[in-house]
Amino acid sequence: MPSLNLNGYTDLPPGKVASIVTYLEMKERPRLRQLARPAEWRLQGLSGDLDRYRALFRRVGEPWLWFSRALMPERTLREIIGNPDVEALALVDDAQDFGLLELDFRKPDECELSFFGLVPERIGSGAGRFLMNEAIRRAFRRKISRFFVHTCSLDHPAALSFYRRSGFVPYRQAIEVADDPRLKGFLSRSAAPQVPIFLPGNRVDP
Ligand SMILES: CC(C)(COP(=O)(O)OP(=O)(O)OC[C@H]1O[C@@H](n2cnc3c(N)ncnc32)[C@H](O)[C@@H]1OP(=O)(O)O)[C@@H](O)C(=O)NCCC(=O)NCCS
Repeated sequence: MPSLNLNGYTDLPPGKVASIVTYLEMKERPRLRQLARPAEWRLQGLSGDLDRYRALFRRVGEPWLWFSRALMPERTLREIIGNPDVEALALVDDAQDFGLLELDFRKPDECELSFFGLVPERIGSGAGRFLMNEAIRRAFRRKISRFFVHTCSLDHPAALSFYRRSGFVPYRQAIEVADDPRLKGFLSRSAAPQVPIFLPGNRVDP
């Protein structure tokens, strides 16, 4: 097993992906950033509809290698999104689901923004700001002392600055190394083509 060099580079074994994770939090509700938005945007609960949740999770997360929910057993996932202390919501317009928001209040006094994102074709349209304003409103509707989130360097490159503009403050960083979910069959080989798949012998999957 290679040990982590905290003053330079550490080679990764083939089949692994690495990222820098940044944890952020806000302790009180910030002023919401203004946005004019189409009247047809609204949120719908997903708690009873696992297939719809999974389809949206995949459309939002696959380009950024989100795999935690893709590999989770159905029963576990059903219990989480059906929990009254979890709000799993789709951002919808008249045509389709195009954003995912999940708030987790299961720990007393706190709220985790556990999943947040748009389908790729709706990024940069103002919908992210709309969804974040909804997230903040809903989080602070309950009595919490902390609203927190983490994002990693595999996520959209604008995510970290978007969170900071939203009022989240970074408080911790970590390095995460995981099996490449595309090699384990949890995501398709064509997911996240911007992140090369390293095979044994440091060959790269075409
Ligand atoms: C992170 C993410 C949600 C950010 O969303 P986004 O689409 O870039 O954000 P928006 O376009 O809504 O907002 C960005 C800014 O542009 C403005 N804007 C963009 N298009 C606009 C429009 N048509 N009308 C008005 N304002 C607009 C917004 O008001 C906002 O301004 P502000 O930040 O100064 O308040 C998005 O990149 C995403 O879904 N990424 C993939 C998943 C991901 O990485 N999630 C985060 C990790 S967990």
